[in-house]
Amino acid sequence: MLVIDCDPQANATAGLGIDPSASGKNMYEVFMSGIDGFPKVMIQDIIKKTASGIDLAPAHLDMVGAEPYLYHASFPTGVLKEALTNIKNQYSYIFIDTPPSVGQFVINGLFAADHVIVTLDSGLFALNGVTTLSTIFSDIKNNLGKDIIPDMAIVSRWGEGLFQSCSQTEAQEKTDIFTMLRNIFYKPHEPSPEDLKAEEEHKNEQTRLLVTLNEIKHRFPSVYTVPYSSAVYEAQKRGMPISHFAPGSSAGIAYKTIAEEVMRWN
Ligand SMILES: Nc1ncnc2c1ncn2[C@@H]1O[C@H](COP(=O)(O)OP(=O)(O)OP(=O)(O)O)[C@@H](O)[C@H]1O
Ligand SMILES: [Mg+2]
Repeated sequence: MLVIDCDPQANATAGLGIDPSASGKNMYEVFMSGIDGFPKVMIQDIIKKTASGIDLAPAHLDMVGAEPYLYHASFPTGVLKEALTNIKNQYSYIFIDTPPSVGQFVINGLFAADHVIVTLDSGLFALNGVTTLSTIFSDIKNNLGKDIIPDMAIVSRWGEGLFQSCSQTEAQEKTDIFTMLRNIFYKPHEPSPEDLKAEEEHKNEQTRLLVTLNEIKHRFPSVYTVPYSSAVYEAQKRGMPISHFAPGSSAGIAYKTIAEEVMRWN
């Protein structure tokens, strides 16, 4: 499996345990190869083996500088696809991570890909991202004739602060002897109007999120939510995929299910 990091922020690179600021060839050189007068660097020349066994074509912040040049390539949209021709058959799966912002890297990724997975942060603005993407998809269709039909959407950080039960805190409170005594000796007071208002707002927010999720489900053939889990952040910090760092965490289990669907694609 190969991961191609096309995001200058290089979070996929760091997440696989490779220091993005380390010197060495990276996707900057590969993209610049598309411009006349620059040395030809192939993806196979920059691939690094990572600890989890995944091959990586790393990103670098320098890629920010490559993007304006790409508009001068003879075929700006096709630089990545072209760069992949020689290695495509050497891997069962190649994942291309793109930046969240619209630009040549996203368009190159979409143009090179056989399948598209859209990742959305859970929140009320998730749908705005979907609308922006639809615009990019129809631009690619109009200009290049390639139909981009996303196969899957993944809504990450699902339920952050809203759907997860605060089980750890609750458990702590229940076993706290002072809390128990307080509950015995003091009558629980009536909820204040502020408490009631906060509870009402919490319920409304939950409803709005579920409506948003429902909207998303109408737009993609398959939609997965990945529960909010601190294991994701920990895994990123340690430079390991969640599949290796915490496969049994709620997020790890969700990603396994997602991986199983992806493995059924042709
Ligand atoms: N299921 C989850 N539970 C908890 N935190 C998560 C989860 N998924 C992602 N995160 C956290 O949210 C942040 C953004 O995650 P994401 O995977 O979108 O990162 P990214 O690709 O680096 O962001 P972007 O490409 O949008 O700049 C990270 O800090 C990550 O640790
Ligand atoms: Mg990203």
